[in-house]
Amino acid sequence: MCGIVGYIGTKKAYPILISGLSRLEYRGYDSAGISTIENDGLSLMKDKGRVKNLSNLDGIDNLEGTIGIAHTRWATHGKPSKENSHPHQDNSKTFSVVHNGIIENYNELRKFLENNGYTFYSQTDTEVIPNLIHYHFSKDDKNDNLKFLRAVKNACLELKGSFAIEVISILYPDNMIVVRQDSPLVIGTCEDEKYLSSDIPAILSYTRDFYLLNDLEFVVLTRNSAKFYDENLNEIKKETQTIEWNASAAEKDGFDDFMLKEIYEQPTAIRETIGAKINLDSKCEFDELGFTKEYLSSINKIYIVACGTAMHAGLSGKNAIEKLCKIPCEVDIASEFRYRDPIIDEKTLCIFISQSGETADTIAALKLSKEKGAKTLAISNVIGSSITREADYSIYTHAGPEIAVASTKAYTSQVVLINILAIYFAEILENSDMESLTKLKQDILDLPKKIEESLDCSDEIKKFAKQIYQEKDVFFLGRGIDETVAREGSLKLKEISYIHSESYAAGELKHGPIALIENGITVISILTNKDLVKKSVSNIQEVITRGAKTLVVTNQEIDRNMFDTVITIPETNCFISPILSIIPLQLLSYYISKEKGLDVDKPRNLAKSVTVE
Ligand code: F6R
Repeated sequence: MCGIVGYIGTKKAYPILISGLSRLEYRGYDSAGISTIENDGLSLMKDKGRVKNLSNLDGIDNLEGTIGIAHTRWATHGKPSKENSHPHQDNSKTFSVVHNGIIENYNELRKFLENNGYTFYSQTDTEVIPNLIHYHFSKDDKNDNLKFLRAVKNACLELKGSFAIEVISILYPDNMIVVRQDSPLVIGTCEDEKYLSSDIPAILSYTRDFYLLNDLEFVVLTRNSAKFYDENLNEIKKETQTIEWNASAAEKDGFDDFMLKEIYEQPTAIRETIGAKINLDSKCEFDELGFTKEYLSSINKIYIVACGTAMHAGLSGKNAIEKLCKIPCEVDIASEFRYRDPIIDEKTLCIFISQSGETADTIAALKLSKEKGAKTLAISNVIGSSITREADYSIYTHAGPEIAVASTKAYTSQVVLINILAIYFAEILENSDMESLTKLKQDILDLPKKIEESLDCSDEIKKFAKQIYQEKDVFFLGRGIDETVAREGSLKLKEISYIHSESYAAGELKHGPIALIENGITVISILTNKDLVKKSVSNIQEVITRGAKTLVVTNQEIDRNMFDTVITIPETNCFISPILSIIPLQLLSYYISKEKGLDVDKPRNLAKSVTVE
């Protein structure tokens, strides 16, 4: 995920900017850059690669400017390269801009600007922003002191998508303008200095006083003032907030644990993972793949291979791949796959999912598939990780670093990415009904808001956690795609609360497990498939009759009085329902673990990255 930093003050800006970027390195990036206001124009120093390389760029030591903006980029539109790195400038080099987020309508805006004589030098969505600002600036006849702000505001109101933006201009050597929408940006303030960053910890060593911005609040910064405006450019009052966190709370953004922070980061993780891949008016894009209809039609089987939670993400992706692409898809545990001599050849596509990209069994399974002649595709959250170096093709979830051992935002990001991949295949194969694909795309775009709604169940879940935290056994049930969520919910509970739990396909109950159901036992069910809801309800009825305590996670109309607790989540397409239905279960495991006083982020016996067999 990209990071942005800014400085306006009395000291040389560039060392402060580089040091700020280093503190954001943990977010993951592939290129970095800065722009400062110098006497002779705006400086621009950028390249692909590490932040520390910026210090070696020619001329950087000569920068004297005390105002500057900086960026670490994680490629979404266009490959990592100097041209695609931020900052970006307009054609006349009057404005420099850094941007974090995705501009969904950049194609339209780019065409509009090209028709008005602007030239583009990168493949990024961001480059439209400085040119659009220049466009509005040059069309504005008024020469009052709000002209710069008006140009930025008019440009931003044309942007669709998410953005945190910093703008500087050679015409306004004492100002910086910033704004955000659905992307993080904070402003730290001291007497005659302002520090900006994507997150608080990166600038906490300079100040504890922060302005926290709401969407579409425009800020004009000078060294000793910060003026805030709404989208009609009415001035608004904003108080600073003093952040009392210690260093470790700061890293956790004020959350008690990384796991909770990561659960709440899911709307952003999903937004970033979707990135620019989905467009309602055109086909899904994966620049890194470039698959043809001829190649995809030649595939006779897809394997998804992974471990643990990543394997559960694969299970939920199987549905979309088989239904949308009509290609048989098998999901396998990497440690089993590698030793069972799987039937694969050059007509097989093997997809490997790994958050860390370093899981030994997954890497070994990938190598085996290559030896057998299959094409290999890695899905990872870590750029340059081992599986991405081994695979023929790689695509990335953009969940940001996942620090808690129990995987949460990586899982939901993997589920969304496999679904987008399935749509991409289906659009190339042209064997699926386009209307349903467009509907699914819209449902995917709606996910971030719906995840936020799903997170609202937190208090109810906390209450339920208090009731059951001393249990010894818990059961999870589901049918169809809900069964894959039951597995993931059960794994989360085991991992961090040390409660024994089992998940079953609800229809399997009668074939054995129901013998374990006795008075007071907790059974958690997921019901999101309207075609299967009646069947699942009758399975739950069977456990209620035997005295079970029930929690139901659902987006269906059911008789709520039948169950002890019902958590309602928003409705969505069945393929992606795991992204919403897992949220209450992640929270449940978390609160049970807290109730038991356990170390949520570092459960016993587990490692974040399993690099040995
Ligand atoms: C569960 C969990 C593990 C991992 C598994 C694979 O919360 O984190 O089950 O999913 O070890 O790890 P990666 O995705 O890094 O290959």
